[in-house]
Amino acid sequence: MEDKYRLPSLKDARKRNKEEVKVERALFEIPDQARSMGIGKKYFLRTYGCQANQRDSETISGILNHLGFTMVDQEEQADVLIFNTCAIRKNAEDKVIGELGLLKRLKRVNPDLTFVLCGCMAQEEEIVSLILKKYPQVDLIFGTHNIHRLPILLYQTMFDKERVVEVYSKQGEIIENLPVNRFGNHKAWVNIMYGCDKFCTYCIVPYTRGKERSRLMDDILLEVKELKEQGFKEVTLLGQNVNAYGKDLKLQNGFATLLEEVAKTGIPRIRFTTSHPWDFSDAMIDVIAKYDNIMPSIHLPVQSGNSQMLRLMGRRYTKEDYLDLYNRIVSKIPHCTFTTDIIVGFPNETEEQFQDTLDMVDYCKYDGAYTFIYSPREGTPAAKMDDNVSLENKNRRLQTLNDKVNYYAKLNNDKYLNKVVKVLVDGISKKNDQVYSGYSEENKLVNFTAKHVKVGDIVEVLIKDCKTWSLKGEMIER
Ligand code: SAH
Ligand code: SF4
Ligand code: F3S
Repeated sequence: MEDKYRLPSLKDARKRNKEEVKVERALFEIPDQARSMGIGKKYFLRTYGCQANQRDSETISGILNHLGFTMVDQEEQADVLIFNTCAIRKNAEDKVIGELGLLKRLKRVNPDLTFVLCGCMAQEEEIVSLILKKYPQVDLIFGTHNIHRLPILLYQTMFDKERVVEVYSKQGEIIENLPVNRFGNHKAWVNIMYGCDKFCTYCIVPYTRGKERSRLMDDILLEVKELKEQGFKEVTLLGQNVNAYGKDLKLQNGFATLLEEVAKTGIPRIRFTTSHPWDFSDAMIDVIAKYDNIMPSIHLPVQSGNSQMLRLMGRRYTKEDYLDLYNRIVSKIPHCTFTTDIIVGFPNETEEQFQDTLDMVDYCKYDGAYTFIYSPREGTPAAKMDDNVSLENKNRRLQTLNDKVNYYAKLNNDKYLNKVVKVLVDGISKKNDQVYSGYSEENKLVNFTAKHVKVGDIVEVLIKDCKTWSLKGEMIER
């Protein structure tokens, strides 16, 4: 029965070769019979996880729009329901599995509803076999490597009325020229590389996203230039580890060069994420310092402040390396803000080792941090380690850490009182329609009063009040 499915394989997902990555420019095609399959039909798309998934959803939406489908924002109205999922921690998966139960109800009301699951969970052996056994309401499963196959896969599901599972566990190519429906009109995500070869011992991403592979610089620059012409004000360059950009293309200082070239396009704002501390070069720091349109805000995941933990995590840097990098950045870009990711309760983490993480936060005084309790991921090396920190201790460490992170977030924000920041306007604030909101260059959320501003404007705001996670102010009319 399962032979007709193309199922994910952990063993294949783990493999890496040295072969050159192919750039495919003509893989996307719409079979004749599928050409107008979406006309009169609606889809609802929900995205979990990181920016890579957000950007993939823009591609999925672009493809569906191409097929004639219309996007809706309520599940109940949809003929096709798509969950683009994340596998990074168990609680991310549990949320989706919980939703699958609720789907039964929607299917009872609308038996023709087609349910699609894609993204990183689709790349997991365990999850796909669970769905096949227990969740017949899922009609189509496809993975992160074959989004371009959506027209044919959806056609088979909807018109041939069969359940379709097609997941590739391969290292992957670079697929150019896929349709895209950007969800924003002044800020855009730009993939610069796919996959990850770091294999941190706790992390599932190298298995769900394939080998680290860089897009050609010319393709990236063309995309940024087009975005600028279309009126976009900000691009965020995306990769699991952007600092490694171009290594596979044998470029020297690949990311520093790319950043500089993107800066020279003159697009008003450039951000990038995520920077692994390991390949953060001095050349990069110099370029960030040199160009006003590269935003002075760096997400620099530390994970732990203890070198032994970092070694067990496979992070390839020590506490001292991280501190040295931090100091080098601050010495050249003193106004730079920093955010980070931290895991507590990794196998064997002692109270003293956790204390080193707290000390790291005291030293770097982060503007914000995403903090997580370690979650074992099937197939990763850490999942075989004894998960020996009690849940009680994990929760307590998380709480202690969060208190400290909040303390510095507020302390850092307080420095902006009576200062002027430049804000890219996102829209009216969610809480008050008299108030606009946007982000400053330092990536601070700013809510402010103003007259005559438009989404996408960059305005000056005088800060009058500082909260832990946002600033409040008034626009300065010039
Ligand atoms: N490529 C990025 C991270 C992407 S995943 C980097 O290396 O910086 C985002 C964050 O999720 C990680 O930084 C880590 O803090 C957290 N994370 C990843 N796997 C996890 C796991 N198994 N348990 C808990 N947190 C995890
Ligand atoms: Fe995961 Fe490490 Fe790769 Fe980041 S660098 S995606 S944490 S394996
Ligand atoms: Fe999640 Fe996959 Fe991103 S696991 S964090 S959606 S790469």
